[in-house]
Amino acid sequence: MAGSESSIYKSCLVFSLTANLFFGVNLYVGRRAAWKRSSDEVDTRGSLSWSGRAAAEAESAAAEECSGHGRAYLDGMVVDGRPVCECNTCYGGPDCSLFLPSCSANADGGDPLFLEPFWKQHAESSAVVVAGWHRMSYSFSDYTFLSRELESLLRKLHSQVGNAVTDGKHIVFGVGSAQLLNAAVHALSPDNSSHPASVVASIPYYQLYQMQTEFFDSAGCSFQGDAARWKNATNTTGDIIEFVTAPNNPDGLLNEAVLHGPNVKTIYDRAYYWPHFTGIPSPVDEDLSIFTISKLTGHAGSRFGWALIRDEDVYQRMNWYVQVNTMGVSRDTQLRALKLLKVLIEDGGREIFEFGYKMMTKRWDRLRKTMSVTNRFSLQKIPPENCTFFQKVREPTPAYAWVKCEREEDRNCIEILNAAKILGRGGSVFHDDERYVRLSLIRSDDDFDDLISRLERLASGEDGAKTI
Ligand SMILES: Cc1ncc(COP(=O)(O)O)c(C=O)c1O
Repeated sequence: MAGSESSIYKSCLVFSLTANLFFGVNLYVGRRAAWKRSSDEVDTRGSLSWSGRAAAEAESAAAEECSGHGRAYLDGMVVDGRPVCECNTCYGGPDCSLFLPSCSANADGGDPLFLEPFWKQHAESSAVVVAGWHRMSYSFSDYTFLSRELESLLRKLHSQVGNAVTDGKHIVFGVGSAQLLNAAVHALSPDNSSHPASVVASIPYYQLYQMQTEFFDSAGCSFQGDAARWKNATNTTGDIIEFVTAPNNPDGLLNEAVLHGPNVKTIYDRAYYWPHFTGIPSPVDEDLSIFTISKLTGHAGSRFGWALIRDEDVYQRMNWYVQVNTMGVSRDTQLRALKLLKVLIEDGGREIFEFGYKMMTKRWDRLRKTMSVTNRFSLQKIPPENCTFFQKVREPTPAYAWVKCEREEDRNCIEILNAAKILGRGGSVFHDDERYVRLSLIRSDDDFDDLISRLERLASGEDGAKTI
């Protein structure tokens, strides 16, 4: 009897433990499964629902390969429901596979497509999804036109790269650095128009300085050409505004100010002061320096630049110019710039600058080799520079080749190159001798390959022209 009682008791205990275990586990797993289900639903039908379609559209345009000689864009033409390929200069046909043999190589303009492959490799981290209601207001919630987050990323980037001191500097954003160049001229010009400031630059200089100053035709300033002419001027009483471009466009030299004195104000254009193009000997600490993402990340089309300004009054005047002119920079552009800079900052800029420097080094090596077979043309010479970013002395790899036609009779160099089916920019555009031509080395791979093959023919005399 005692034995059967004990076995009934044991059976009850086992049953009770098993039941508890079953219901307990079920309760826990069931809850987890329900939570998982609801979070999946949020993922697919909740917070990601409106971006899914946009992402699919973006990927569909990006998936068009265009034979590697073009690209399709989300805002490009669509035919039969498919985004249409936009082909590189010497390519055509619906999928850009057709090479156009009689076409001229394009080495004109400063389109920085050499960085496009970098962004294709970083498609995921650099993509931006913009909601239909993203920042519709004229201003940010602190009543400014400038994203504080973007401002602090810019400061961080300069400190990582070591190319500019931002402590004690105000920042103004511009619609490209182009807008800031004239904002700076305005800010440094006197209010009193009876003594207009003279705006000058060293030859060869970037033509926009003159074009803008003359086009906007302000009573406070006028363009007066070559800075060197003012160096020994004895009776200069009015203000002088000198543009210093370092590295310089077109010749890549790390220019320094020519003029000094209490009546001289300097605008440093630092568009190319990044390790793709030049050694970074030290961080610049100037009263007014202007930068742009156009030549940093290659996003010229986004139109975003910034100025580092020491003086409070100059800052206020530049800020006012940008407000009156465009009410700041598009919030969509600021969002894009923020996303791109985050990619750079993630590894202190190492990957993009190594990519850019390697690409530019390869292009310069090919160009030098091509030109080495003839004395008819020469290239600019720039001494090696110490680069604190790469921690070595390195050859400069400027964005442009500044080519000189050396033959006595080749007085108009751009005509010689145009005849050989090469498009570039003649020296006179930079107020220099017509013996010079600027060739862009920062365009797409196709443009660069076309340029090299046209130059090879010209240098070897295959195009019919006699070479030395
Ligand atoms: C020296 C220099 N400064 C400024 C600019 C204008 O750049 P952004 O695209 O920022 O207006 C350029 C463009 O080529 C340039 O070469």
